[in-house]
Amino acid sequence: MSKKPVKKEDPKTTGHSWDGIQEFDNPMPRWWLWTFYATIVWGIGYTIAYPAWPLVNRATQGILGHSTRAEVAEEIKRFDEMNSGLRTQLVETDLTEVSNDADLLHFANANGSAVFATWCSQCHGSGAAGAVGFPNLLDNDWLWGGDIESIRHTIEVGIRNETNEDARYSEMPAFGEILEPEEIEQVVEYVLDISGGEADQGLAAQGETIFADNCAACHGEDGKGDREQGAPNITDAIWLFGGDRETLTQTVTYSRFGVMPAWNERLSESDIRAVAIYVHGLGGGE
Ligand code: HEC
Ligand code: HEC
Repeated sequence: MSKKPVKKEDPKTTGHSWDGIQEFDNPMPRWWLWTFYATIVWGIGYTIAYPAWPLVNRATQGILGHSTRAEVAEEIKRFDEMNSGLRTQLVETDLTEVSNDADLLHFANANGSAVFATWCSQCHGSGAAGAVGFPNLLDNDWLWGGDIESIRHTIEVGIRNETNEDARYSEMPAFGEILEPEEIEQVVEYVLDISGGEADQGLAAQGETIFADNCAACHGEDGKGDREQGAPNITDAIWLFGGDRETLTQTVTYSRFGVMPAWNERLSESDIRAVAIYVHGLGGGE
């Protein structure tokens, strides 16, 4: 191996000097320079071909007409076409018979779970277990009915909203304006008693007549509720708003007014059916 002769003369410097340290003025390596020129050429080509320079309202479009938005739309269309047969079938099949067709049921559940994650989980929880004021959809305690058609109807029209004329509607009066505070105290003790809580028996006994006169029309004589009116069963210790003395007093004094949007404005018929099937299948469906 022959070594290159070491150059004797000093390399040129730029004339810059920091604390006596000088900067050589060596030329850029060739490969580096050509790569640099290539990236410039590529960059110019790219901005001509693809969307690149921002303008006031939108960016330059590029001569290839490429758009990620159009790509996504194309992709969605492809899936819609792929599923359109199943969607039509879902709309046309009686809801109680969907479970007889394994493919259709699978499609409905997959689609329904996606709809649920997008539109329902912010109120009912990602696992559908609900929260205060937002019912748990996993149990078999239903305000408005737990058979599949009732669930579909609830989702379609919503509850106490102002946008759908057919929305499920009922209103519990605020008893703070109707009963005396001690009567409210008595009826609350009665509710505690029939729901298995610890109650003052003397007050509860007085509350029983108050309940029969003021509450039974909606919650039923036995307190088991009325689905026609969305009046909850108040004997089962499953609470929408809470079953402690303080919360019950609040509920009875000021009433409650749970609102759910109507979904027929935002979801297609097949999406509503799919999510109804999904909710019905979560465990509490009747
Ligand atoms: C803005 C919050 C909100 C969203 C979003 C929402 N819900 Fe509800 N939902 C409620 C409330 C509040 C109630 C209870 C109303 C009441 O007190 O009667 C309810 C009740 C229900 C019921 C009736 C339960 C019963 O016991 O009868 C069903 C079924 C239901 N929702 C399904 C859904 C589905 C499916 C979606 C998504 C498409 C959804 N909800 C989205 C707030 C919401
Ligand atoms: C006009 C019908 C009506 C009458 C009368 C009525 N309620 Fe209600 N009650 C309802 C409805 C409807 C709800 C559910 C409200 C909601 O979901 O927003 C409810 C909710 C409740 C709750 C909440 C249950 C929970 O799970 O958190 C309690 C407790 C209750 N009522 C007790 C009473 C008592 C006690 C009386 C009598 C003093 C009474 N109600 C009278 C319709 C009525």
